[in-house]
Amino acid sequence: MIDHDDTTVPGVSQSADPLPDTWLFGYGSLLYKVDFPWLERRAARIHGWQRRFWQGSHDHRGTPESPGRVLTLIEAPDQACDGIAYRIRARTLRQLDIREKNGYQRFELPLWFDDGQRASGLTYLARKDNEAWLGPASPAAIAEQILGARGPSGPNRDYLRQLAATLRRMRIEDAHVFAIERELDRLMPA
Ligand code: BEZ
Repeated sequence: MIDHDDTTVPGVSQSADPLPDTWLFGYGSLLYKVDFPWLERRAARIHGWQRRFWQGSHDHRGTPESPGRVLTLIEAPDQACDGIAYRIRARTLRQLDIREKNGYQRFELPLWFDDGQRASGLTYLARKDNEAWLGPASPAAIAEQILGARGPSGPNRDYLRQLAATLRRMRIEDAHVFAIERELDRLMPA
């Protein structure tokens, strides 16, 4: 197996990780912005959750004055959310905790792989008690807010476009994401 974790230095003895490797489930930007080391990655599914653009972004895709909208996971008993599970070294979480601040916390949940195997994994999600929470809105209202927002990581619309393109490439159907993309197309025709 290829080791994509190139943070180890050959010939230099490093202190052992106090924690074992762990699976991290990605459902949003972690699907297309893979700027962290990983050991293995596999298509994975979580049951009882769905993606929603209900979290505000003050620090990546918007500002405190004009927050963007980014994804979180919402409990939905009859739904499932497809994504990618990355097996990472525990220390990589420290890097990702910094990238994914602004209301997100890590939670542990069961993952299903396409060969029927299961594992426990971590994911980042923002719950409604965080200060950046925005909550539900129509696809048209969400698209309008996304169109008007830009932050240090770039225009909010790029986040939506990259996500939708990645989901299509992975053949993942997500009615919520694609409805918002259609509204964005309507607001800014090519
Ligand atoms: C993800 O792609 O899994 C993700 C979504 C929101 C915040 C952090 C990570």
